[in-house]
Amino acid sequence: QPKDAHSRPLFSLSSLLPHRVSPSLPGPPSLPLLGNLLDLMQDHLPGHLTSLSRCYGNIFRLRCGKTTMVVLSSAETIKEALVTKWSDFAGRPHSYTGDLVSGGGCSISLGDYSEKWKAHRRLVHGALQRCCAVSLHAVIERQALALRQVILDYNQKPVDLLEDFTVAASNVITSLVFGKADNKSSAELRRLHDCLNEIVSLWGSPCISALDSFPLLRKLPNPPFSRLLKEVERRDDIIRSHLEDFKVSQQRSANPNVCATVYVQMLTETHVHMATVDLLIGGTETTAVWLYWMVAFLLHRPEVQASVYSELCTVLESRYPRYSDRHRLPYLSALVSEVLRIRPVAPLAVPHRATRDSSIAGYFIPKDTIIIPNLYGAHHDPAVWDDPDTFKPERFLEGKGASTRALLPFGGGARLCLGASVARMEVFLFTAYLLRDFQFLPTGGKASLPDLKGVASVVLKAKPFRVTVRPRP
Ligand code: HEM
Repeated sequence: QPKDAHSRPLFSLSSLLPHRVSPSLPGPPSLPLLGNLLDLMQDHLPGHLTSLSRCYGNIFRLRCGKTTMVVLSSAETIKEALVTKWSDFAGRPHSYTGDLVSGGGCSISLGDYSEKWKAHRRLVHGALQRCCAVSLHAVIERQALALRQVILDYNQKPVDLLEDFTVAASNVITSLVFGKADNKSSAELRRLHDCLNEIVSLWGSPCISALDSFPLLRKLPNPPFSRLLKEVERRDDIIRSHLEDFKVSQQRSANPNVCATVYVQMLTETHVHMATVDLLIGGTETTAVWLYWMVAFLLHRPEVQASVYSELCTVLESRYPRYSDRHRLPYLSALVSEVLRIRPVAPLAVPHRATRDSSIAGYFIPKDTIIIPNLYGAHHDPAVWDDPDTFKPERFLEGKGASTRALLPFGGGARLCLGASVARMEVFLFTAYLLRDFQFLPTGGKASLPDLKGVASVVLKAKPFRVTVRPRP
């Protein structure tokens, strides 16, 4: 393995080569013209990249058209890039389809690293933190109780809970962004979230991402791409109407404790619009999918559910938990960490771009290289995790040796998930409320247990499944 660029001999051969990815950076063979497109089109991309990392190492390259990508599959390489050398890798790739879905790169999640982007992110992050400090706990509690009622109303009929988890997560983020007084009907909110989910899943599909690397394909008919454009238009109409209603309500009485009040005054119209999209997209499907995975794994390991329930009863007796109780609830906290580990809901984060020439693990990485942080791979690295494919919350209990430092479900550095603190409180409190009030049971024998591999696009989701939910006495 070559040494770090800084410690190479002054006149080594590599220092005379043109600036491109070090030729010794390993990677699977690539086809003429297509490069590694077939690898990138694999069904479960995070799993496929993880198996490639077993052959080519925790840093390897892929090619697609003229683009070179570097895949990082260990906590060490990911942290080196995203945290230690954060400013070298804080960029986002410019892409044809990314520009179309992000208002020309004006969103926080897809906008490239620049002074303007930093100011945008800082402002929205500050607004979010302030509103969270004032109201997040109460907002989640209210939604957890509403979810409880919805589940009670099912009367133990077998149900698929994804939609209910999505509504709960969506209500939390909409309350934070616009305040409780959202004038839109719940049907309209559902339409917005269906539309956002559709955009995320279409944008992650290979027949659309291929347009970024192969411009000639843009001339051919592409029905999924036409659908994407339509959904983006629909999204923008709904968000515009939300923001207009919000501004009218602000003229009557401004609520300083909601996010949009703060950023509406400071940002341009497009930046307000895209920040709202970022928060609603980031804040809904991720949390809902995480809750869905949690239930899927508990159906496979009922004794974990029993241990969490018994911990809740012993520590809290009959009251509902608060987030500040988390240090007294180690088993519940271990369950949260293990689900974040085994199924990171954003398994490949969002691609980064090298903003300047740099290096990772001693390999030279030229400016503009695309970096894929394979969080899924890092969370299944056998050098760090004992028996990584097995769901074992116990590994996070004190003295069991697992370290949360190798856990990177929210990425890290300048691009750390903007909603990480919102998400942490949400998954903890929703789980605590659900497991205190209900027991989740399979609807039939072993055959009815959920599939645990999941379907991977930008978000890694469990396949649909049904569950029987029995109220605790
Ligand atoms: C970005 C994970 C919930 C808003 C990200 C990234 C990951 C992630 C891995 C990419 C980091 C990178 O590029 O390196 C998760 C997980 C969640 C969650 C696992 C829940 C379990 C949320 C919530 C919000 C949110 C609740 C909003 C309140 C965002 C935004 C970005 C982002 C705006 C883009 C940040 C940037 O590019 O600077 N998230 N997220 N996420 N997330 Fe989350």
